Amino acid sequence: MCRKLIVGNWKMNGSLATNAAFFDKLKINITALNNVDIVICIPAPYLAQAQIALNNSICSLGAQDLSAHLSGAYTGEVSALMLKEFGCKYVIIGHSERRMYHCEINTTIADKIAIAIQTGLIPIVCVGETLDEYKAGQTNTVVSHQLDTVLAKLDSIFITKIVLAYEPVWAIGTGHIASQEMIQQVHSIIHAQLVNKYFIIPKMIKILYGGSIKPNNAKELLTMPYVDGGLIGSAALNIDDFLAIISIAQG
Ligand code: PGA
Repeated sequence: MCRKLIVGNWKMNGSLATNAAFFDKLKINITALNNVDIVICIPAPYLAQAQIALNNSICSLGAQDLSAHLSGAYTGEVSALMLKEFGCKYVIIGHSERRMYHCEINTTIADKIAIAIQTGLIPIVCVGETLDEYKAGQTNTVVSHQLDTVLAKLDSIFITKIVLAYEPVWAIGTGHIASQEMIQQVHSIIHAQLVNKYFIIPKMIKILYGGSIKPNNAKELLTMPYVDGGLIGSAALNIDDFLAIISIAQG
């Protein structure tokens, strides 16, 4: 069995007090991990707090976005180098909420992936179709195109340094999940593309599923052979739900 990766994405949630309670409970409950790695991607202002609170814990830290530039006159942006100073190992790139609300396009996402790899961060790259695309039967074409464009600037050797997350946009925060057949189909299309275009053996790269993973459906979703882990939004805000999902992922 491959080692699963469980990534919590807090999005724009948290406060110093609620974060502290979350970190305390996480540290008490997770002292050893069996066949699973955990990452929490928290809002940038709380990275310093998390870095101290999770020091010496087995949970890795991640960010939810980064600038396509290393430094300079880019008001409001946060660079990869800054994220690294605050202990980040991972960074989510191209989440559908960045694409939707911040007009992020595949070429910008490609630049961000390149800069993450250049600075030693592991990009968690999101792809997935919208509801309209899903209804129009365009899932495979959309995901293939996103993948092609976001990977365009990378040599095969660098592609093995990323984690991919298939997140149907219509499944995010809605309580709807993709069917097992659909997840398997999209994951196998991604695998085939990686093999045929970039000569990458599927085992070399993790492909997560994301979209409404909860404790009550985690077993069904995370034990599928093609699924190497999960990207978890709202259930990662509740420590009990997050711990339950981690425990399911450990098998
Ligand atoms: P959700 O979010 O688990 O709340 O659906 C997933 C995500 O946005 O990555």
